[in-house]
Amino acid sequence: MVLPNVPDRLEVPLPDAPYPILIGSDWLADLVSSIADRMPDLSHAIIIHDAAVAQPWAATIQQALQASYRTDMISVPSGEPSKCVEQLQRLWIGLLEAKTDRKSAIIAVGGGVVGDLAGMVAATFMRGIRFVQVPTTLLAQVDSSVGGKTGINLPGAKNMVGSFWQPQLVAIDIATLGTLAPREFISGLAEVAKYGVICDAEFFAWLQQNHEAIHARDAAALKHAIRTSCQAKADVVLADERETTGCRATLNYGHTFGHAIEALAGYGHFLHGEAIAIGMQMAADLARRMRRVDDAFCEQQTELFTSLQLPITWSEADPDAMLGAMFSDKKTEHGKLRFILPTKIGHVELVDDVPEDLVRQAITACSK
Ligand SMILES: NC(=O)c1ccc[n+]([C@@H]2O[C@H](COP(=O)([O-])OP(=O)(O)OC[C@H]3O[C@@H](n4cnc5c(N)ncnc54)[C@H](O)[C@@H]3O)[C@@H](O)[C@H]2O)c1
Ligand SMILES: [Zn+2]
Repeated sequence: MVLPNVPDRLEVPLPDAPYPILIGSDWLADLVSSIADRMPDLSHAIIIHDAAVAQPWAATIQQALQASYRTDMISVPSGEPSKCVEQLQRLWIGLLEAKTDRKSAIIAVGGGVVGDLAGMVAATFMRGIRFVQVPTTLLAQVDSSVGGKTGINLPGAKNMVGSFWQPQLVAIDIATLGTLAPREFISGLAEVAKYGVICDAEFFAWLQQNHEAIHARDAAALKHAIRTSCQAKADVVLADERETTGCRATLNYGHTFGHAIEALAGYGHFLHGEAIAIGMQMAADLARRMRRVDDAFCEQQTELFTSLQLPITWSEADPDAMLGAMFSDKKTEHGKLRFILPTKIGHVELVDDVPEDLVRQAITACSK
């Protein structure tokens, strides 16, 4: 007898919308029992998937679900441009045509693009229907699928329209990473490493020791890395579900710099995690110049990022252009530069009123 691959279970005990994160390997064919547990009245599943994962992942899920439910499949073109009003409208109409009602649920299968878009559809169709996240990129598995942020972009304004809408379930199958491009995988490691720096020194050390197993995509190592990352994100989300206390802002370590890098290099030049890795290097260097951390901190972070094969510099980083982009970021409040900066491995703080000349020096230091 072949035993089913039982996934690990983490709880996200939000007071109004608690849900589990299930993390396993090769278990998507058994997803139906987890879905039935969470939604006993379910009769209809609409699988909204990234076109790139139609085969094998979305098809595997449909096969698993169709014995128990009426199923529909809607494919979304791959890539960031799909996080747009046109796709949102197309999906709303698709749900209407599929006779979606309160006994239906959306199953979002793909990376952060499909998760954010399908989550936004779920948040708004009939004023909100249930949805399940099946993230298939490393970034989505450790970051975007957890926390309930959904949304789309407006021209020139990323994630400008959206909603907090929690999934019923996050179902992570490590096997889906088997078809992911190496560059996308490595980029996702930036967010994994971020958790080590911002809140978990032990995990930071574990990553340093296990980078080879991670690159070899060893299932046990990946499961540990993804599980620890999801727990870290869930802890922050629990402390600050709607970004009101400042705790959730710690997740933005490296992101003020990183968003400016993404915008200036042109969207598509760097993957998100690549830009964030360079951004974290700039933030670490800034913290060192402000005497919040010592040289050893910066060396340790550089060593980890290098062993994870993440980029650590951007030769074209221009302080003037970067500052301009940072001041126009929607997260810049009242023209003040605020950064999430470390004090040691495993701890960061929100720092206001950072001297501009030190920001310039940190950018220049990471452009060599
Ligand atoms: N909601 C949140 O809290 C949150 C957090 C971080 C990022 N995000 C959003 O996430 C998005 C980025 O997510 P992403 O990095 O997953 O990008 P993505 O969804 O564009 O996926 C990256 C690429 O991988 C392909 N792909 C996905 N899974 C695959 C698989 N298993 N095998 C082969 N190819 C696969 C996709 O087609 C795409 O080309 C951004 O829009 C960002 O704003 C949201
Ligand atoms: Zn990020």
